[in-house]
Amino acid sequence: MGKTTTAINLSACIAIAEKSTLLVDLDPQSNATSGMGIDKRNLAVSVYDMLSDSKSVEEVVLKTNIKYLDIIPANINLVAAELEMVERNNRETILRDKLATIRDYYDYIVIDCPPSLGLLTLNALVAADHLLIPIQAEYYALEGLSQLINTIGLVQQSLNQKLTIGGILITMFDPRLNLARQVMEETRNHFKDKVFTTIINRNVRLGEAPSFGKPIILYDIGSTGAENYISLTEEVLRI
Ligand SMILES: Nc1ncnc2c1ncn2[C@@H]1O[C@H](COP(=O)(O)OP(=O)(O)OP(=O)(O)O)[C@@H](O)[C@H]1O
Ligand SMILES: [Mg+2]
Repeated sequence: MGKTTTAINLSACIAIAEKSTLLVDLDPQSNATSGMGIDKRNLAVSVYDMLSDSKSVEEVVLKTNIKYLDIIPANINLVAAELEMVERNNRETILRDKLATIRDYYDYIVIDCPPSLGLLTLNALVAADHLLIPIQAEYYALEGLSQLINTIGLVQQSLNQKLTIGGILITMFDPRLNLARQVMEETRNHFKDKVFTTIINRNVRLGEAPSFGKPIILYDIGSTGAENYISLTEEVLRI
């Protein structure tokens, strides 16, 4: 948990730092799209049109309210894309191939993945240089992580040798909970300097911001959530 919140807020903060940034919504739930204030029920184009070859990448990029930040939005059509992709020869490299023409135009491209480790997520892993893994400081966080690390190893050996773990991000942290502190310590012991120094606290304002269609820095710049994501951005810009 925390993927979409991180994708929205990290891409917004990078853009505020005047780096040209593209947010790609690769989840049929399309929470990154709505969280950026875009009405997903009224999209003329979406990431689906690009993946299914009916539109070029340039045609599906939208501007956002933030200077330096563009988005490729998603909607529920993306469910069909995942099914259709299964039939194609280049099914794992479609996203990478599509983004190739605009890759150099942006300083950063942030891809928001769906919850499951299916073909859409695999496409993201093949297209990416760095993987950012948010984990919730609660039960079982580390169990899911080992499966993901295995998958990353397989992708590195086959489809994307460039892929590295950019960092593991502890999120929704509640310092009052023993368990949260335990998960944090275990994660740090196990993954060492792969864990970001920044921790994202559980913060009500972060939970509210998406329903206003705003990243936290526009919704409440004085909040802990804004402070945490600005700090994370500083770390990410150093990768
Ligand atoms: N640090 C936080 N503090 C409070 N609420 C948060 C925080 N991070 C995320 N949330 C809220 O928790 C919910 C899940 O977060 P988010 O959507 O980022 O997870 P996700 O990994 O994208 O989930 P999914 O796998 O369903 O796409 C959302 O309602 C979000 O607003
Ligand atoms: Mg999400």
